[in-house]
Amino acid sequence: AFNLKSRHFLTLRDFSPREIGFLLKLAADLKAAKYAGTEVPQLCGKEIALIFEKDSTRTRVGFEVAAFDQGAKVTYLGPTGTHIGHKESVKDTARVLGRVYDAIEYRGFGQTVVEELAEHAGVPVYNGLTDEFHPTQILADFLTMQEHVEKPLRDISYVFIGDAANNIGDSLLIGGAKMGMDVRLCAPKVCWPHTNIQQEAQRIASTTGARIMITEDIDSAVAGVDFVYTDVWVSMGEPEEKWAERIKLLLPYQVNTALMEKTGNPRAHFMHCLPAFHNTETTIGKEIQQKFGIDAMEVTDEVFESPASIVFDQAENRMHTIKAVLVATLGA
Ligand code: CP
Ligand code: NVA
Repeated sequence: AFNLKSRHFLTLRDFSPREIGFLLKLAADLKAAKYAGTEVPQLCGKEIALIFEKDSTRTRVGFEVAAFDQGAKVTYLGPTGTHIGHKESVKDTARVLGRVYDAIEYRGFGQTVVEELAEHAGVPVYNGLTDEFHPTQILADFLTMQEHVEKPLRDISYVFIGDAANNIGDSLLIGGAKMGMDVRLCAPKVCWPHTNIQQEAQRIASTTGARIMITEDIDSAVAGVDFVYTDVWVSMGEPEEKWAERIKLLLPYQVNTALMEKTGNPRAHFMHCLPAFHNTETTIGKEIQQKFGIDAMEVTDEVFESPASIVFDQAENRMHTIKAVLVATLGA
């Protein structure tokens, strides 16, 4: 019924609610088949280039294992070691890779770069995260939400709290608007998505019945929600100096036990795209502790490690949903 063959996957705005629903169903089916040992490879003979201009754990392993399970092969092109962007233009790189590969994944900086690749590659291009959008993450998040509450997406409510002016906040806003959900963003005004994204979400919501709230007020934002979602306060590619300013601005928006209790929903779940700064067990975590005297940023260790936390379900679902995108766009 749905033919997504040869389509790019650059933002959720390019897909209808039914197409997104189809990808989620396909992901759930592929996940069940893998668990049952009945997965049928549909991508034998396909080769996929994976460009990473920024670091990655989940997205890289998600694309690699999804491809392997389906019989495809991949080449990882990291932040160094290719000519991309410094010695060879994006347009030329796109045309070269398009002659050699069946599809290209790109993680990098500007959304315009992944769009330029898509324009010139002649094969499907997938956005593996840009400064502006992270659409494969949102597919994984919606699959995870569906697995944890027994109601359709349109009846699900979630709040994204923290730095909402980034790839995850923007993508959750557009994605939730598309799927007709109860979407709340909660942040100080300077951390709200650009007005054009807000307006776009409102336009989409007027056709899908989504409820959108963008507010600085924590109490009204979290009231009754099914899911509380946060992300790092300083994203990849942003200068380190941002930490001081963001910690000051966003500490009141930290997801801690008191905030989870404010939802009034004892069954509210905690979500995070990861990686997360919930303790001091990383080099950055240690630096933050030394400089600012705090043990956690966007989420406390207590919430991160609590039974409410479904962050590793999200992480696993990255692979299953990426697989759905590969199968839908490249499969027979
Ligand atoms: N959530 C996510 O995209 O993680 P990675 O940066 O590890 O790929
Ligand atoms: N906003 C984060 C998401 C990481 C998956 C970043 O861009 O670094």
